Amino acid sequence: MTRPDPRHAPVMLREAVEGLAVHAGGRYVDATVGLGGHASATIAAAQPGGRLLGIDRDPQALAIASERLAPFGDAVLLVRGGFEEIATVCEAHGFAPVDGILFDLGVSSLQLDQAGRGFSFQRDEPLDMRMDPDDEITAADIVNEYEERRLAALIYEYGEEPRSRRIARAIVARRPIETTGQLASAIEQAVGRPGAGGRRRTLHPATLTFQALRIAVNRELEQLDTALAAAHGLLAGAGARLVVISFHSLEDRRVKEFFRLHSRDCICPPRQPVCTCDHRATLREITRKPLRPSDAETGQNPRARSARLRVAESIVDRVAA
Ligand SMILES: C[S@@+](CC[C@H](N)C(=O)[O-])C[C@H]1O[C@@H](n2cnc3c(N)ncnc32)[C@H](O)[C@@H]1O
Repeated sequence: MTRPDPRHAPVMLREAVEGLAVHAGGRYVDATVGLGGHASATIAAAQPGGRLLGIDRDPQALAIASERLAPFGDAVLLVRGGFEEIATVCEAHGFAPVDGILFDLGVSSLQLDQAGRGFSFQRDEPLDMRMDPDDEITAADIVNEYEERRLAALIYEYGEEPRSRRIARAIVARRPIETTGQLASAIEQAVGRPGAGGRRRTLHPATLTFQALRIAVNRELEQLDTALAAAHGLLAGAGARLVVISFHSLEDRRVKEFFRLHSRDCICPPRQPVCTCDHRATLREITRKPLRPSDAETGQNPRARSARLRVAESIVDRVAA
């Protein structure tokens, strides 16, 4: 296995640290600590006296983050786990409430670039895609075991791929599919290249199917919903911040809806004459529209292109999750 490359450019770093409104002595959680890029800038800005708890489910990422964050000594605590367990992790380490929480969603460059993890069709390798190597289900299990209609629905829902049925049919016809290369070539044969037009013209025909499988293998959307609710409950009180960087519209839509829901005083249906919901706003959206990376950043780091960053701020004392 090749040695992981620890160079990783954190996406929208300045915007993320500003979004967290980091201050000296504050307590922060990086729920996707990855290789520690955002975490090191956050903990540096929180000195003197600040502390940071970093969570990741990828043990290899944590090993790199731990080296990178070593200069901060006891101010940093790293925990292996899923961010959907953020409340349990923070409570277990006496790390609640907190002044800010960051989610930088998706895969790290380590996961994308490292041979053998199966996230990318740029190399031919086992079709794995698990962020946590101890998870049971791999992308190969889904591709080889799902019934054609279920596979098409998954590719449509999680990849927003309009050619999902054709792709699912081709996959089923080419089973067993064990490698990223076999999957990419089955898709290419089914739908050809380039794609139908617009943005799809510039995408490899396998891009959206790979995205769909990655989301399914890692249960990314369900875990995001759980994690946002739990994170909300950990915020220390008025002024505490929640920052989320997402990389596709399925994630961003969920973050937007969560922020909108908790920024409203009433969530009754619009035509209902009298409010009966008793809902009260607990958040204020700092970014009504998501922030996007600068041209300078995307020029240097093309992977930042699809990033969208949203910030919300607590306007109340701590709420129960
Ligand atoms: C884009 S990377 C984060 C990079 C990081 N901000 C940095 O500066 O290096 C996303 C990280 O989130 C982790 N991750 C994704 N889903 C997770 C989950 N449900 N629980 C914990 N970690 C998760 C991945 O393993 C990956 O390391």
